[in-house]
Amino acid sequence: PPRPKDVGILAMEMYFPRRCISEEELEEFDGVSKGKYTIGLGQKYMACCDDREDINSFLLTAVHNLLEKYDIDPTSIGRIDVGTETAVDLSKASKTFLMDLFAAAGNTDVEGVDSKNACYGSTAALFNAVNWVESSSWDGRNALVVCGDIAIYAEGSGRPSGGAGACAMLIGPNAPLAVEPIRGTHMVHAYDFYKPKLDSEYPEVDGPLSITSYISAVDASYAAFRKKHAKAKKVASLNGAGEASLAAFSLADVDYPVFHSPYGKMVQKAHARLVYNDFLANPAHPKYAAVANPAALLAQPHKESLLDKTLEKTFMAVAKTDFDTRVEASMKCARRCGNMYTASLYGGLSSLVASVEPAELLGKRISMFAYGSGIASSFFTIKVKGDTSAIRANLDLVNRLAAIKVVPCQEYVDSLKLREEHHLLKSWTPAGSVDNIWPGAYYLEEVDGKYRRKYARAP
Ligand code: HMG
Repeated sequence: PPRPKDVGILAMEMYFPRRCISEEELEEFDGVSKGKYTIGLGQKYMACCDDREDINSFLLTAVHNLLEKYDIDPTSIGRIDVGTETAVDLSKASKTFLMDLFAAAGNTDVEGVDSKNACYGSTAALFNAVNWVESSSWDGRNALVVCGDIAIYAEGSGRPSGGAGACAMLIGPNAPLAVEPIRGTHMVHAYDFYKPKLDSEYPEVDGPLSITSYISAVDASYAAFRKKHAKAKKVASLNGAGEASLAAFSLADVDYPVFHSPYGKMVQKAHARLVYNDFLANPAHPKYAAVANPAALLAQPHKESLLDKTLEKTFMAVAKTDFDTRVEASMKCARRCGNMYTASLYGGLSSLVASVEPAELLGKRISMFAYGSGIASSFFTIKVKGDTSAIRANLDLVNRLAAIKVVPCQEYVDSLKLREEHHLLKSWTPAGSVDNIWPGAYYLEEVDGKYRRKYARAP
């Protein structure tokens, strides 16, 4: 059979909790200086999870809704790749819980399990699914990529940069959102953010290291991408030395840059850093006329540049208008739900699809920066090759995000206390209402005395 073309995202569904809190109110509640979370971190709202939700209930809902909204036959799926760092079992994949939705239709011939590396699991899952469809093992069916997380932090440790959400995507040929072949990847070992505790959902975080790690990953994965791009396009070096030129690809080749969003300000810094990288490759371009002392910046060692606040401020100012016109459209989920870890980047993509008119989006190139602490990162691109109207209509993102109820901060703190009490119990029969669960969404119904979890759907 002919090789499949334009493999990518055919359909998307987002899931997020029914409640959120305001970061402005959280500043007051926590007694910190005004603006610390809203301006300092660029946060607006953050999702608030019920203790009867876990990652499996999130993913079940996302997949159930995707199948229903797009009328997808469960037997038409040949592979499911899951990305999450919130799994409730060290052995049993969250993917296996999703199999109930497929086995009921007689389909158990479904490849794929979970991919884990902090927020990067979703991108690993996407690459796996795309690779499968493009491979000689492909059986002609579509794949699913499913990702999501509950991002919560111990008090005093990154708590305002939390959030929650999930995403399910249908992957196959002739996709309106085609994943392009070149990927620039940077993976190294670091302890910037990690989860060594089995008895707690909270990560260990080295905040400052996580920020410099994220930024150095932007640099390295962008450089790796540009090198491969130049090689693929056989672009001659600017200095004629024959080495493929980094300057061959720049943000000018991208219409909408999308980033993993731990919090709003980090995305602004990351975007400004790409502009800085473009400046290093082509400093004489008139758009950098306002950059003071370019010679000093060009001579600065990379390590120093990561900690240079003046550099950061300079390029955030240079990049400001570009951020507002090309990046902000991808921030809708992040502004309402906060960090969704693995789902954050794909929440960004769905925000973009929901924000830009399909006719306007057609033919455009989207860049994706995936980052997972630990560290795994990639820079890759998606080309809009078809009509995104159906994805936009089915996501109904603007209305659904607005429908999330803003609750008092005390309710968030209380819900985290309950999660702490109920975390990985051997036996638990939850009582009370499921009012904080969206109608039709899955929730944890019981833990049966042998750690086995059962899920039900809210009325
Ligand atoms: P912090 O101690 O809360 O904040 O830590 P800070 O004191 O460092 O201040 C942050 C910024 O707010 C600073 O500005 C302050 O000047 C400013 P910047 O230097 O960034 O320009 N500020 C104010 N601005 C206006 N008005 C005020 C005010 N006060 C301060 N009143 C930190 C912040 C992000 C480190 C913390 O929240 C944290 O540890 N979060 C978790 C880790 C994280 O999100 N890291 C991001 C990169 S790593 C990543 O993305 C991976 C991740 O998603 C996990 C995964 O991969 O699975 C996290």
